[in-house]
Amino acid sequence: MTERSEIEPVARVINGKAIAARLTGEIGKAVATLRSVHGVQPGLAVILMGDDPASQVYVRNKARQTVAAGMQSFDHNLDGSAPESELLDLISRLNSDPSAHGILVQLPLPDHINVNLVMEAIDPAKDVDGFHPVNVGRLATGEAGLVPGTPLGCIILAKDVTPDLTGHEAVVIGRSNIVGKPVAQLLLAENCTVTIAHSRTRDLPGVVRRADLLIAAAGVPELVQGDWVKPGAIVIDVGINRVPAPERGEGKTKLVGDVAFDSVSQVAGAITPVPGGVGPMTIACLMRNTVQAACSIHGIDYVEPIVDSEKAV
Ligand code: GUN
Repeated sequence: MTERSEIEPVARVINGKAIAARLTGEIGKAVATLRSVHGVQPGLAVILMGDDPASQVYVRNKARQTVAAGMQSFDHNLDGSAPESELLDLISRLNSDPSAHGILVQLPLPDHINVNLVMEAIDPAKDVDGFHPVNVGRLATGEAGLVPGTPLGCIILAKDVTPDLTGHEAVVIGRSNIVGKPVAQLLLAENCTVTIAHSRTRDLPGVVRRADLLIAAAGVPELVQGDWVKPGAIVIDVGINRVPAPERGEGKTKLVGDVAFDSVSQVAGAITPVPGGVGPMTIACLMRNTVQAACSIHGIDYVEPIVDSEKAV
């Protein structure tokens, strides 16, 4: 942790990279069984529209890890100025392509594209992002469905610290459809008492201080300070913010989360770092969802991979 900070954290630093690697290893084994026993090779189609550099990096990483897990990866690049109908036609073709079990449209999309229309065009059985209203509804009603990867990753990391979250006061900062709302639903399913805080919340530090489990997904660099956090709390930082780092040299930048790591890691019981916390879990959970989708499409029972706790290794 010395490259991140001069101060030694008091909290356990949750190693998201290691936990994601173990999950990916288990997914690789599940894929091998699917191929050898059932003759099914899961396939993930990723659509990238435009040339946003951050999205290009994500998509490349997804493709690399998909292939590394023994699955097929199909990359589709559309020009940023392509009409919406071209994207919808491509989704329609992938919906009926038996080798694509998962379809992911990389966000953000260009301004002329109606995101809701695009999400609704994806077959819910192939919606590995869990953004289709059918899967959103299933999550809300507790039915089996595809669950968004980043929220799922947050829960896996929290449960690596405390396997039973029952009765925990959980506070989520952020109410996005991608993280805040779905992670709140998952926490509810884990029997937590859940508060969703957001930019209009009154006395945010006071609300955060109640949390045994804090999920920070506000998109505000280092928003959560050490004196906001209950001693011993589990802190899961979803933020990835690039900020100037003049201390590293002129024009240099660094990644920080939504949590001020140095001060919060002196108070919390466990904390995820940025980078190396939630980030690696997102792609691992996407791989998991692709296997789940392939199983469900082929009528094969999906068995949740067991990810051993870091402490047990
Ligand atoms: N862009 C940033 N995060 C995500 C994600 O989880 N899914 C998709 N489709 N695009 C993203």
